Amino acid sequence: MKPRVAVLISGGGSNMVKLLESMDGDHPAEPVLVLANSAGAGGLAKARALGVQSDFVDHKPYGKDREAFEDALIAKLDAVQADVICLAGFMRVLTSHFIDRYDGRMLNIHPSLLPKYKGLHTHARAIEAGDNEAGCTVHEVTAKLDDGPILAQARVPILETDSPETLAARVLIEEHRIYPQALRQFIHKL
Ligand code: GAR
Repeated sequence: MKPRVAVLISGGGSNMVKLLESMDGDHPAEPVLVLANSAGAGGLAKARALGVQSDFVDHKPYGKDREAFEDALIAKLDAVQADVICLAGFMRVLTSHFIDRYDGRMLNIHPSLLPKYKGLHTHARAIEAGDNEAGCTVHEVTAKLDDGPILAQARVPILETDSPETLAARVLIEEHRIYPQALRQFIHKL
């Protein structure tokens, strides 16, 4: 049986769409669920349009109880027997309660050249620092935020005229290219 992939999103889900589209008939894995942390995540409708089950767990009612929120996510993931988790613009920090469960089976894409600029506002920070290049990283998820073995990276130039938004758009093109590639290679090695 092919490994069953769930994609976790918070927003528009453009990386998620590229991952789902990449999992065609020849792919070694199959997409089984797109899961968001709010009903308003724009990617949910896109997943449904691609014929993939979508669902959400609103994080707000859980307040500071991250483990209870994570248990609700896990229940949804267990229901579809997800083997592999891809974080794709999932903007909630996960604790080891969740991460340990998917040890060695969870990927993330981060919009910087890790280990530089973990966390938020990566593009603004790269411009502010005077860097001449930026990029994106696909990595395995470990208990440390935006850490874990690096599976793929892509670089883009930072132009003098760049704003965080124009740089983000240039990086996003590369994200769409490397995340599907990295997932395919990762599944082959499982
Ligand atoms: C992407 O740029 C992704 O790298 C970033 O959020 C964006 C989501 O876009 N992720 C993070 O910042 C994670 N800390 P998308 O919803 O269109 O894929």
